[in-house]
Formats: sequence, C-alpha cells, structure tokens
Amino acid sequence: MTGEIPKSPTAPGPRVAIIGGGVCGLGIGWRLAAAGCRVEVFERDKTGRAASWAAAGMLAARAEAEPLEDTLLELNLKSQRMWPEWAQEVEAAAGMALDYRDEGTLIVAVTRDDVEQLHFHHELLRGFGLEVEWLSGAETRRREPFLSPKTSAGVYSAGDHQVDNRKLVTALELAYLDAGGALYEETEVTRVEIANGAARGVFAGDELHEADVVVLAAGAWSREIPGLPASARPPIRPIKGQMVALQMDPSAPLIRHVVWVPGAYLAPRLDGRLIIGATVEEKGFDTDVTAGGVLNLLLNTWEALPGIDELPLVESWVGFRPTSRDDAPILGPSPVEGLVMATGHHRNGILLAPITIDAVSDYILKGRLDAAVRPFGIDRFRLSEVEQRGAA
Ligand code: FAD
Ligand code: GLY
Repeated sequence: MTGEIPKSPTAPGPRVAIIGGGVCGLGIGWRLAAAGCRVEVFERDKTGRAASWAAAGMLAARAEAEPLEDTLLELNLKSQRMWPEWAQEVEAAAGMALDYRDEGTLIVAVTRDDVEQLHFHHELLRGFGLEVEWLSGAETRRREPFLSPKTSAGVYSAGDHQVDNRKLVTALELAYLDAGGALYEETEVTRVEIANGAARGVFAGDELHEADVVVLAAGAWSREIPGLPASARPPIRPIKGQMVALQMDPSAPLIRHVVWVPGAYLAPRLDGRLIIGATVEEKGFDTDVTAGGVLNLLLNTWEALPGIDELPLVESWVGFRPTSRDDAPILGPSPVEGLVMATGHHRNGILLAPITIDAVSDYILKGRLDAAVRPFGIDRFRLSEVEQRGAA
C-alpha cells in the first residue's frame, strides 16, 4: 500500500472524486466537503437507490454474527456503538429524522430444529462476551403477542437496533449538498484515470474530472470500473436479495421489535410498513422479483406471525449486496496512490456506515487509518500472478 494522500496546492484538503452515490459515497462526501475539500460525487443512476435503498436498515451486529468472524464482529460492534450519536449528527446536518429505533431485536424459534440452531447462536454470542437474553416461548410471546402460539423460544438482543435506510441516504445527500459537495446524477464513471501509479481523476463520458484522491464506493459494481489495474480491483460480486413490504396500521403494529423468524427477518417502520427480507442468491445482477422468492419470505413470516394474512403487500424489490471473498468490507488505501476503497459491505453496509465514513474520511484528511479498519485493506486479497491475469 502506498498510503500516500497527495495535498492540493490550492484547497485546504485534497480534491476528491467519489464513484458511487450510496451510503458510503454520500457519507464520505459529506464529511470531506464539510472539512473544506472540493468533492465531486458521481452516480450513474439516482443517488441512494441501489443497495442502500434496498436494505432493511437493521443494525444487527449480534443477530448477523457468524462463527470465525471475530475481527469483523469487533468492527461491526464498534460501528454499532457509534450509531446513536452519529445518527443525531446526520439528523442535525440534514434537518430531518432518520427514524432510529432502539427497541432491540428478537430472534425467534418455532420448531425443535430452530431451537437447536438458536442455542448455537446464543452460545456463539455469549462466547464473544455479548449480552443476549435467552427467553422461553411464553416470554417471547409476552414481548411480541402476535407471534404464533407455536413459538418455542427466543433470544433478545437489546443492542441490535434499526434505522430507516431510505431516510439515511436522503439525509446524507442533503447534508452533502449543504456542505458544498457537487453531485452528478445519471453520470457514469467510465474510467479511473491513473498515471505513473497514481490516481489522477475520473472520466465521466469523455470529460476528465481531475482529482488528487479517487474513492471507489460503487457497491456491487466496484470491480467493474474500467481503468483499475488488477491489483486494485476489489474482488466484489453481487449477492441478490429480494424483499417485500406489507402495510400495518401504524397505530396498532403487529410487532415493535425487529424480529428474526426462521427463514426471514422483519423490520417494523414507524409509518406501519413491515419490511420483510431477504433472499440470498448467487444470480449476478438478476433484477427479477420471483414467485418463489416472495412465496418463501411470506410463508416463513406467516408461520411465525400469522396476523400478516390480511395485510396489503405494498412493495417488492431486489437489491445487490456488495460482497467480497470473505464477506468483509474493503476499506482504505490501495496499491494505486490516491485510490481509496470504501466497498464490499455485504449484509452490513448500513450498520458499518459510521465507522466506514469516519475512518475513510479521516484517512483522506489526515493520512491516518483507524486501527479497527486496518485489517480490512484490499492487500488481504493478494492475487497470484495467474489470478491477476484472469482478473485483468
Ligand atoms: P450502493 O448503495 O449499492 O451504492 C453504490 C452506488 O454506486 C450505486 O448507486 C450505483 O448506481 C453506483 N455506481 C456503480 N457503478 C457506477 C459508475 N461506474 N459510475 C457512477 N456510479 C456508479 N445492511 C445493513 O447494515 N443492514 C441491513 O438490514 C441490510 N439489509 C440489506 C438487505 C438487502 C436486500 C440488501 C441488498 C442489502 C442489505 N444490506 C444491509 C447491505 C447494505 O445495503 C449495503 O452493504 C450498503 O448499502 C452498501 O452501500 P454502498 O454505498 O457501498 O453501495
Ligand atoms: N442484513 C440483511 C441482509 O443483507 O439481508
């Protein structure tokens, strides 16, 4: 890694071009523009309408924890701790609410098999020293009375929260523009300009936008941007997720916590929308909402929460998780001087927004990388020469 961030002779900070107007690109743009940098965000569609729009907005370090991912869990937990204060800062900068909700999360078991799996997850979390509470079926239903009488156990995680991710990206765009950032929507970056091993800017169409620093925040499309050498092309692929939303009565919602049922998770919004997700599919950039995908989500939900039966289905959609080879994000410097990574957030890009945005911005402004982020550099995927030829 070169670790070198060149300083512009005229501006207080470097001139920055950001590829991608999702939560990562907009958030980093906001921080840098607020610090006085000349920032340009390029978004080939409308800002914030890709994964950052498709997400459920769960801030679920505990519910999403996986075995053997200790370092990633630490990063997730650090970001989770940042969320309450960080949300207030975004709300103040944007002048709008993010609907951050801290009722906590319930993970529910119905069958004996579910209970065994839940025991395993509970033990995993306890092994990490995390506070989670084992509940009987009756206690689980006391907390969420519309759950099926067949509910046999639950785990309550007081620390896993949620935010309205669509409000988050809207707020970050407002904050970014208010801080003086330039936004180019419906403007595709067609090439990263690199000369003598250093990033010089980006091409949008035929026009070169010169910059001292280029931030790669193009989500699931990050490895496809032309001009990147193989050593700086992040190994990201899209993992398709289908979601649906039902409409509850906001004054009498069926559930108040985020609830994970076997085969689906449910995030109740303040406006009564019940977000249900999500499939996990290796299908490239396939945008179809399928009968099977929706059927599974609804059936799994209905078995645990039968009261959804009469609710109107108001929206269905597909999003693409930006997923690296080890499911962890790719953050910070690259082998190309001035090319900085902010991608690969897989299932947790909303959760990881505070740490990603603050750490990457800090690195660009001060040349210092937060210790929690250092294990997540692109250098961990050192490609063999054969692989590099294949990726070129
Ligand atoms: P994106 O939001 O995808 O933004 C990248 C942007 O780059 C896009 O707008 C795209 O148009 C643009 N772009 C691409 N190529 C170019 C180019 N050449 N030029 C210009 N622009 C370009 N995370 C959580 O923490 N909690 C959740 O509950 C959660 N649920 C999820 C559910 C689903 C179904 C999915 C799909 C994801 C979920 N995630 C969740 C993950 C989270 O949404 C992502 O990790 C995060 O949004 C990634 O943000 P991003 O800014 O990197 O990417
Ligand atoms: N984090 C939820 C999902 O990716 O589906």
